[in-house]
Amino acid sequence: MSTSETPAAEIKVDGRAGERSRELMGAAQQVIPGGVNSPVRAFGPVGGDPPFVRKAKGAHIITEDGVALIDYVGTWGPAILGHANEEVIDAVQKAVRDGLSFGAASAGEVDFAELVCSMVPSLQGGMVRMVNSGTEATMSALRLARGYTGRDKIIKMDGGYHGHADFLLVAAGSGAATLGLPGTAGVPADVVKQTLLAPHNDLDAVKAIVEQHPDDVAAIIIEPVCGNMGCVPPVEGYLEGLRELTAQKGIVLIFDEVMTGFRLAKGGAQELFGVTPDLTCLGKIIGGGMPCAAYGGKREIMEKLAPVGPVYQAGTLSGNPIAVAAGTATLKILERDSPYAQLDAMTERLAKGIVEAADAAGLPFTSNRVGSMFTGFFRSGEVRNYADAKGSDLDQFTRWHTAMLERGVYLAPSQFEAGFVSVAHTEDIIDATVAAAKDAMAAVAAG
Ligand SMILES: Cc1ncc(COP(=O)(O)O)c(C=O)c1O
Repeated sequence: MSTSETPAAEIKVDGRAGERSRELMGAAQQVIPGGVNSPVRAFGPVGGDPPFVRKAKGAHIITEDGVALIDYVGTWGPAILGHANEEVIDAVQKAVRDGLSFGAASAGEVDFAELVCSMVPSLQGGMVRMVNSGTEATMSALRLARGYTGRDKIIKMDGGYHGHADFLLVAAGSGAATLGLPGTAGVPADVVKQTLLAPHNDLDAVKAIVEQHPDDVAAIIIEPVCGNMGCVPPVEGYLEGLRELTAQKGIVLIFDEVMTGFRLAKGGAQELFGVTPDLTCLGKIIGGGMPCAAYGGKREIMEKLAPVGPVYQAGTLSGNPIAVAAGTATLKILERDSPYAQLDAMTERLAKGIVEAADAAGLPFTSNRVGSMFTGFFRSGEVRNYADAKGSDLDQFTRWHTAMLERGVYLAPSQFEAGFVSVAHTEDIIDATVAAAKDAMAAVAAG
């Protein structure tokens, strides 16, 4: 939002929860567990109450306390075009007039499916099924992989987060990591028995697990660039090695690109790294801010889905016309404008500025970044997996988070999350963030 668009009441800078947000949190806690509809939104790990959001535009969110904050959460990934992009809003408004849900096949779904398949390498010449959330996408892709292979076991990485399906909540990242939950209550031990764990970025460990269960592994699911232990890129040869191993052993390789899809490149991490999985899970950006996700890939696997094949998966609101309109508009803009070089340059400028700020303050700090995903870890040395990420100084992170919020910058309230830059983050906005970071790092160092 440019200054001229910023209402006078919204020129305050301190974004910590003010009177109105605290009042709303008090009311929310009476009717919503923890006051939030998703645990990551609570400020438990960093202390205090979260500011409530009234509206969002471009690179900013406007809080209920009347503060315009520079936003690097981007609704946890979807807002690659910035908030409330006019073309997307127009498409949604147009679609709304024709009905909110059909629960029946519609032309928009065909166009959308064709567009998604054309953009993502593993879906080219293949098929896609729309669902409503990333959780549904990963859960369904794994059911499909099991149905296709006739095997039961799956391998996931320590600290990888793939949504909240029972059998995937084992050593999960994101909110589960933030809250220090190794698993979760409510999941029977039997349900997670078939979920095997490997440390991230360790091909030999995955090979050893596969050797132990030579005929039983249906799928390996992985975030090709991890976002849910903070941003952790793949080490050289890791994705290629997984591709080779799974191809040899008849294991379905699933890239969970819920976060990276359409963000790191038009075709996601698989385009960027040149490794094509068998199935891909998509979410976040695909819905342009509306609840929409998808999974897709090789035709021979996808044709195992009902009604063509024996693997059942369904959804009343799947392919919802409003979500499809928002998603189509968003993907068409990304295809037309291909903003990836700009996103990369802006995020590099930001990450470099934050590192310089940490150095100037004498703080140990490691910056990970791929394209417009970034995380700064409060520790020295490489962060290649969840164990490394957990070695960060969480007290310093907490002070950093609060200091940035005080200075008008909204970051995810956890060390174990990625930050996101959007096309609405101009050079001026990035530079303002870096200026805030200099002050904030000095405040962190002061203790
Ligand atoms: C990589 C990844 N997979 C799956 C999910 C689950 O998506 P959703 O929250 O839409 O269910 C997330 C959510 O953050 C994610 O980051």
